[in-house]
Amino acid sequence: MPKVPFGPTYDEMLHPSTIDPQIREKALHAKENELDPINLFNITWKNERNEVNKIVLPKALTGVDANIVVMLGKYFPSGSHKVGPAYSTLIEGCVDREIVPEKHTILGPSTGNFGIGVSYICNLMKYDAIVIMPDNMSKERYDRIQRYGAKLDLTPGTESDVILTLERTFELKKNPNYRSLAQFELLPNYRFHRHVTGNSAIEAVKDIGNGRIACFASAPGSAGTLAAGDQIKTVFPEAKVVALEPYECSTLMNGGRGQHRIEGIGDKMCTLIHNVLTTDFIALIKDEESVRGLKIIHDAPHILVENGVDPKVAEQMRDLFGVSTICNIIGAIKMAKYLKLGVGDNIVTVATDGFDRYNSVIDDLERRELETADFVLRRWFKDIFQKTNTDDIDDMRTLEKKERLFKQKESDWLKFDYSIDYLNQMRDMKFWNHEYEKVFHYDEKIKKMRGKEL
Ligand SMILES: Cc1ncc(COP(=O)(O)O)c(C=O)c1O
Repeated sequence: MPKVPFGPTYDEMLHPSTIDPQIREKALHAKENELDPINLFNITWKNERNEVNKIVLPKALTGVDANIVVMLGKYFPSGSHKVGPAYSTLIEGCVDREIVPEKHTILGPSTGNFGIGVSYICNLMKYDAIVIMPDNMSKERYDRIQRYGAKLDLTPGTESDVILTLERTFELKKNPNYRSLAQFELLPNYRFHRHVTGNSAIEAVKDIGNGRIACFASAPGSAGTLAAGDQIKTVFPEAKVVALEPYECSTLMNGGRGQHRIEGIGDKMCTLIHNVLTTDFIALIKDEESVRGLKIIHDAPHILVENGVDPKVAEQMRDLFGVSTICNIIGAIKMAKYLKLGVGDNIVTVATDGFDRYNSVIDDLERRELETADFVLRRWFKDIFQKTNTDDIDDMRTLEKKERLFKQKESDWLKFDYSIDYLNQMRDMKFWNHEYEKVFHYDEKIKKMRGKEL
C-alpha cells in the first residue's frame, strides 16, 4: 500500500527546533544532497541556529532611516521559498487522501519558481509531475524543472500570460488521475505564508529597531507571500501591507495588463487566495529599474562600496536577490518615504529567490542597453535606489477600492467554476481566519499520518 510521505507540519516549518533532533540533524547534513527526501525538513526560513535567514539592507544603499529587512528565500531547498506552498498543498492533499502516491500525477501551473518547487517536491515525495508554464521565461527555470524530473507543458507567452496556464490546467484536470497544486486558488499557499512566513517575519525583527513591523511589502504573483501580512497585523495592528505591481502591468491598481520583465509577479489577475481586505496600499515599480538594480548589485559591488556600503556586505549581497527582490526593495524604500518612517522603524520584505536563475536576464539587459559602463551604472544606482520617489502609490483602504478588487476577483474566477457565494465569503475576515485555523487541524493530521499506509 502507498504511504503518506514523511514531512514536516506547518509548525515544524516555522520552528524547526521542534523537529525530532535526530531527523533535524540528518536533514541539516543532507543539504548538500538536495534530492535526499529528508530535505523536506529543511523547508523553513530558519538556519541551523534557528534564526531567520535575513539581511538588513545598508542605509548607504536605501538612503532611508528605516530598517529594510529582507527575508532570504534562496536557502530553501530548490532555491526559493515557493517550495513551501508546493509542499503544503501536496501534504494536505495526501493526508486528506485526495492525492494518492503511485496513482495521481501532479500538475503545477506556474511561471517558474512554483514549478521548480513542485518538480522538486514531487521528486522527493515520489510523484510524477507536469509543470504548466509560459514558454518565454528565463532558461534557468526550465533547466531546473527538468533536472528535478517534471515534464513541461508550455503555453505561449511570458509572465503576464499566466491565465493561459490556468486555462490549460483547467482542461488537464478533467483527467481523473491528475491533481493540481493550484497555487492561485488553494489555501495551503495562504496557510503556509500566514503561519510560516508571517510568524518568521515577526521573529526576524525582534532585535532590530523598535522590534515591531511598520510595513510589509511584497509583489504578488499568487499573493501567497502577502498572507504573511495578515499574521503580522494580528501582532502589530499598525502594520501597513503593501502589494507591489509592475508599472507596466498594474492590474490591481487600475486594470493595467501590459507585458513586463519581473518574473514571478504581475500575473494580470486578482488571485483567488489574495485577501484584499488587508491590502492597505498598492505601489507600482518599473520593471527596467528592477532589472537594472539587479545588474548593479550583482555586477558592480564596487559602486555600492564607493557609496559607503561595507565591502563585505556588498559582496555578500551579490547572490542573494532576484529581479522581483529588487522590485520589493524599491517598493520598501518608496513606502519608507511615503509613510515617513524613521530611525527604529522596520519594513519587512522578501527575496523569493537568489541570483542563480537570472544570468540570462542580465545577458538580455546587456543586449538591449547601448552601454553598461561604470558611469552608466553609477547613474542608475542613484536614480533607482536613492532617488526613489513616492509616485504611483494608491491607498486601498476605502470600501470603493476594495469593491473594485472584489469585482476583479469575480471576473477572474467565476469562469473557473467558483460560485459567487464562495467569493462573497471572502469579503469577511472570518473566512480568512477560519482558513488559517486549519493549520492546527492539518498539523495534527500530518503528525498522525506521516509515514503510515493510506
Ligand atoms: C521570483 C518570484 N518573486 C515573487 C513571487 C511572488 O510570490 P507569491 O506567489 O507568493 O505572491 C514569485 C512567485 O512565483 C516568484 O517566483
